[in-house]
Amino acid sequence: METKIINPFPDNFLWGSATSAFQCEGAAKEDGKGLSVMDVRKQDPAICNYDVASDHYHHFKEDVALMKECGLKAYRFSFAWARIFPKGNGAINPQGVQFYNELIDELVKADITPIATIYHFEYPQGLIDQYGGWIDRQSIDDYVNYASFLFKTYGDRVKYWLTVNEQDHVVHMPFRLGLKGNDQHENERLGFLANHHMCVAAAKATKACHEIVKDGKIGPAVCFDMLYPASNRPADALACQDAMDIRNYYVLDINVKGEYNGTFKRYLEDRDMMPEIQEGDMEIIKANKPDFIGFNYYASKSVAAYPCDEDHKIGDLVIKLLPAEEPGIYKVVKNENLNATLWGWEIDDIGLECVCRLLWDRYRLPLMITENGFGNKETLPEDKMVKDDDRIDYLTRHLLAVKKAMNVGVEFIGYCTWSFMDIISGHSGFSKRYGLVYVNRDEHDLKDMCRYKKKSFYWYKDTIACNGENIK
Ligand code: BG6
Repeated sequence: METKIINPFPDNFLWGSATSAFQCEGAAKEDGKGLSVMDVRKQDPAICNYDVASDHYHHFKEDVALMKECGLKAYRFSFAWARIFPKGNGAINPQGVQFYNELIDELVKADITPIATIYHFEYPQGLIDQYGGWIDRQSIDDYVNYASFLFKTYGDRVKYWLTVNEQDHVVHMPFRLGLKGNDQHENERLGFLANHHMCVAAAKATKACHEIVKDGKIGPAVCFDMLYPASNRPADALACQDAMDIRNYYVLDINVKGEYNGTFKRYLEDRDMMPEIQEGDMEIIKANKPDFIGFNYYASKSVAAYPCDEDHKIGDLVIKLLPAEEPGIYKVVKNENLNATLWGWEIDDIGLECVCRLLWDRYRLPLMITENGFGNKETLPEDKMVKDDDRIDYLTRHLLAVKKAMNVGVEFIGYCTWSFMDIISGHSGFSKRYGLVYVNRDEHDLKDMCRYKKKSFYWYKDTIACNGENIK
């Protein structure tokens, strides 16, 4: 709704920016780091691997100095699990521990609040080799031991923690779970088993965080695309509701409410995918709610009803990045009202406003946007400043959506742009850039790795300096 009054951003709003370890650190095989599923994945030769990334491991002081210059109040980073525990459990790598000590000290010195993700996609290959990873219950204890080590080691300086990044994506990505088989149904079944173990692990880590970290706050970082019904046909509205339940709400409903929502439960049972829930699991989850909801938002999708027929039956899956269509439930269709990025992600700031309000209404927990950003192809111009006006426009609109959501009562902790400097995109290598800072390398040519501030860097700096007064 349009309002006469629009409240300013609160003074303690955390203006942040984010990265993840495997996408920016590089040094993938240096100083005792073990391998992760990202390091051993089969690579499309057209896309770079993660060996060097943005070489943040060797440039972190310079990167934090840039964050300080930008005026960031918060920086979200992730620990590379296998840099600390090379095999995922057992022996600790002191050089890895030291790296994060130095990074965190540098942030604190620069007056930047660290927001730390415990696990962002790069699961230790060692755990896959030992027992198959997340599909085995041993994974719960190993995650909790690793998380507890982080709380004890860094909890004096890190107060905001994120348990699992985009659990809702990981469980649909066999290679990120270390699954080897090609049977799609079996991979989905195992994905939902892994999902359950992650939920129990996150709840136990939440308990440990509250016990170990003084004033510590912890929450998930899910991915949450807004979903719309493709038309005003009631069947599309119902398909949308179903898709919201089984694609979006399912993880948070377990994390926050301690329950498998009814639609999701029926969906899993229909397909013989219900994971084994052991006695006490749901009680542990219920007793250890997150303190806030972190979520990544990039785009919305529209969904239409997809009735079954002779050739399309309940349980058939068509998986692209995510299940994009499922007979008997929904299919994703193009939204003609929205522009899209070069990768087809439909740009929708109003969708973000809707998501903020839905999450607040459903869970009544403060929100933190852990990622929001615009991926684009970019090259370094002669004057060394990328004029990324599209990104500025995208971020401005999405921040306005946050401001409007707050204006009707949604509570926010902060907002992180994705990403601070250019990083390796999850699926498109270095050809899809997100940063406020340009990193001078290409897909395969490492060049000199110099950092150059983009136009959006200066825009964000101004925005932070005036506490978002320019967001209109
Ligand atoms: C989120 C991830 O899925 O989206 C990030 O948490 C990722 O790791 C980001 O980079 C953007 O996706 P992509 O595929 O464009 O890198």
